[in-house]
Amino acid sequence: MGGPVLFFAMAYKTVLGGKMNQDEKKAAAASESIRFVETGTIVGVGTGSTVNFFIHALAEIRDRIAGAVSSSEASTKRLRDHEIPVFDLAEIGRMDVYVDGADEANPQLQLIKGGGGALTREKIVAAAANKFVCIVDDTKLVPVLGTFPLPVEVIPMARALVSDQLVEMGGRPEWRDGFVTDNGNDILDVHGLRIDDPLKMETEINQLAGVVTVGLFARRPADVLVIASDSGVETTEAWSVNPVI
Ligand code: 5RP
Repeated sequence: MGGPVLFFAMAYKTVLGGKMNQDEKKAAAASESIRFVETGTIVGVGTGSTVNFFIHALAEIRDRIAGAVSSSEASTKRLRDHEIPVFDLAEIGRMDVYVDGADEANPQLQLIKGGGGALTREKIVAAAANKFVCIVDDTKLVPVLGTFPLPVEVIPMARALVSDQLVEMGGRPEWRDGFVTDNGNDILDVHGLRIDDPLKMETEINQLAGVVTVGLFARRPADVLVIASDSGVETTEAWSVNPVI
């Protein structure tokens, strides 16, 4: 994944107006987000295939940054493989910028996250960042959140209990069987929710006994969305349903 060939293909297609595939768009958004990284700072790093492109781009400026705070064991390994120092958030407390992907983004930059199962640490790092830069390709843009199944991290003994309550809320939870989070917990992927009020739903699900984190990022949405599409890369603080790109 990544590498000069992909970056060249991406630049070539952007300039000539050709169609980019999804990986090329992810790489384009990741590459653009590097401009939010200030010299000498510690950068918050999310998790997922889009973020893997960001880590690749970050490695190219590793001498300019102090290091990173990671949101998952997978990103920590990848950062270390690229010789980027990884700091413990418990020692750092806060950071300027957090860069992460998303599974869905609405016009208010509220997000569904957790497709990769790293939602709890992602939410913690996002909360600790002064600026949350979310990098997406245009397939992630939705007018209303909920087409992507909403991930909920639960303490294993509460799995059936929480599932029942999610059904009462109108969802169809499915246990992500065989997957264990970095925190040793289970994930329920909740299908069939139309999330018209993300703030309310985030609060309601968070309050269920046994829920560790719901993958709704509405209380702490992204501050900036970097969107890659066939027409290029746009940076926005809100987008409209009649596309801005
Ligand atoms: C991981 C996440 C990811 O940001 C989300 O799943 C998007 O992943 P990708 O960049 O691979 O499409 O929340 O927990």
